[in-house]
Amino acid sequence: MASRTGYPDLDALLPRLERIATLDAAALEAEQIALLGRKSGAITLLLKSLPTLPLEERRAFGAAVNQLKQEVEARLASRKAALEAEARARREAVDLTMPARRRWVGGEHPVTVVTEEILQIFHELGFAVVVGPEVETEWFNFGALNFPADHPALDMHDTLYLDAPPVDERPAGGRLLLRTHTSPVQIRVLLASPPPVRGVMPGMVYRSDPFDPSHAPGFSQIEGLAVDEGISFVDLKATLVHFAHRFFGPSTRVRFRPSYFPFTEPSAEMDAECLLCHGAGCPACKQSGWMEILGCGMVHPAVLRNSGVDAERYTGFAFGMGPHRIALLRYGVPDIRLFYDGDMRFLEQFVTAEPGREAPHPRPGDPTERGRGRGQGRGRGRGSA
Ligand code: PHE
Repeated sequence: MASRTGYPDLDALLPRLERIATLDAAALEAEQIALLGRKSGAITLLLKSLPTLPLEERRAFGAAVNQLKQEVEARLASRKAALEAEARARREAVDLTMPARRRWVGGEHPVTVVTEEILQIFHELGFAVVVGPEVETEWFNFGALNFPADHPALDMHDTLYLDAPPVDERPAGGRLLLRTHTSPVQIRVLLASPPPVRGVMPGMVYRSDPFDPSHAPGFSQIEGLAVDEGISFVDLKATLVHFAHRFFGPSTRVRFRPSYFPFTEPSAEMDAECLLCHGAGCPACKQSGWMEILGCGMVHPAVLRNSGVDAERYTGFAFGMGPHRIALLRYGVPDIRLFYDGDMRFLEQFVTAEPGREAPHPRPGDPTERGRGRGQGRGRGRGSA
């Protein structure tokens, strides 16, 4: 408390002096002007009145006014410093009510998840994983697989040819192209390892397909091949039905339809009951109740001969399926292009909690939150079948 001065004019200002410590920034500035303003500040006016006073009084009163002025200046300065410190503290404060940042949780691409699950099922059946080149010669991609030159089956297998000299090797050469299916790896496996063989061969394949909701010019396939003495169509069916039950669920119905591939005879296509409507018919299965899963058949004797295998002694079966397509069906994804976009909001929906790994915390209302129920409800990643 500033002490009384004995001058009523000055004492009248003391309560204002005390109040300075309670003012906010705007009031502080107003008060500074009201007290010290050059034209009409209260203290300024008192100082201006000094020359009108008699000399004796002027000295004593002048000293008292100046002391009060210094006091006012000191309090204004200290209040100002206090307000600035408060503002700084507010700026730097941690707001504990802010939503926490999400921990970044990585996950496998849904097509990778599906691929690995399929390979795992066949691994348990004794199939080894084999990979072959994505750039093939005409011989491996077509000739060895018994495609007659100019056969209409080639139409579905139009692809990009490399601007490189053809491989001059008989019969294995020809022009270089991006393989249109993984079936050429069948030939490479048989050339490298005489029967008995069982292999699954994952990889990308390329066709002149449009990029639309159900097609892509590059997509993945998994080829399967089993060649041994005494393998029959029964082995083919038993293997593929077992696969379907492991992958889609034990009560999933499957059916085989006759088909045609130059490299298998007889040939078939396997359908599984639609995962979404369970056979009732829905837009995803075009009201048929079935989803086409893979092509298959008994390895054509010409293919065995082209691979140096004794076709009198050995028989085998082969199959080919598309993980991109299977992922589309399993997760009910409406557009295959979503698998190629790299949009994290789409891909995050497939990240599932695994032991030792935290599930992501979606922000309320973000697209991940809405989609998650779907991605997790169906399929649930690995081990759900
Ligand atoms: N290669 C065939 C395709 O791409 C699929 C297939 C593989 C069919 C093996 C039968 C046997 O359509």
